[in-house]
Amino acid sequence: MSDAHKTPGTADAGRGDVWSPEQYARFRDERSQPFFDLMALVRLEPSMRVVDLGCGPGELTGALHQHLGARETVGLDNSDAMLARAQAHAGGRLRFEKADVASFAAEADYDLVFSNATLNWVEDHPSLLRRLTAALAPGGQIAVQVPANDDHPSHATTAEVAQEPPFREALGGFVRRSPVLPPERYAELLDELGYREQHVRLQVYAHRLDSREAVVEWVKGTWLNDYQKRLSPEQYERFLERYHELLLPRLVDRRPFFYSFRRILFWARR
Ligand SMILES: C[S@@+](CC[C@H](N)C(=O)[O-])C[C@H]1O[C@@H](n2cnc3c(N)ncnc32)[C@H](O)[C@@H]1O
Repeated sequence: MSDAHKTPGTADAGRGDVWSPEQYARFRDERSQPFFDLMALVRLEPSMRVVDLGCGPGELTGALHQHLGARETVGLDNSDAMLARAQAHAGGRLRFEKADVASFAAEADYDLVFSNATLNWVEDHPSLLRRLTAALAPGGQIAVQVPANDDHPSHATTAEVAQEPPFREALGGFVRRSPVLPPERYAELLDELGYREQHVRLQVYAHRLDSREAVVEWVKGTWLNDYQKRLSPEQYERFLERYHELLLPRLVDRRPFFYSFRRILFWARR
């Protein structure tokens, strides 16, 4: 294994680590379904060396390690809070380390580069995919799931709030835009990078949440982190109030609330 990914992860901009394992776990079942769909795309090979980029609280990395009967699995994340949870699942040939996926690099070390719901936090996917490909041993596999729900009011409304005063000033003009590409672009990139086989799909997940208010709690677990880390606690509270005020009338008031969520899953083998 190369040392390249062992450099300490960079802290998030602004207020540091804002990932909350508790908030993220509030929709544990809904969030883990795409993980299992992605895992089902991986071809089982004996004795695999696996890296899980953005492993989060580690439980699912453990499930992946078990499922594959892997020789070695390393989960990487740059959140101390997430890694503290993940360590409870470490043992044997499964371990967790701090690293920033944005600077992850390895040379032909892995039989599987796996990443669920994390690469959407890293810019420039063409060059990222080049680096992830270089990390694969001959015949290696890549498996990635990224959310692609930024057109839904749940996400689009955050951009509106960010552009209103006083948030625009407080954020210095920052608006979160997803770096996720259209699905067909991933297919092209995988082909350009020399993968012999590939499977790319857009999947709409159907979630039934208790109420439309639950959408706010969902988005607080991930997408809103980019605003939270750039605002003071008081500013972030006001941001949430305004988001709530604008978003709720845009969502049907029905219980359970039907929340559609687009995700791109791709798998390829060299
Ligand atoms: C939505 S969670 C997904 C966690 C896990 N893969 C799962 O399926 O439950 C995203 C994770 O990516 C991590 N993350 C975000 N940006 C990262 C980066 N640049 N480097 C490493 N980890 C990152 C976060 O700390 C968080 O744990």
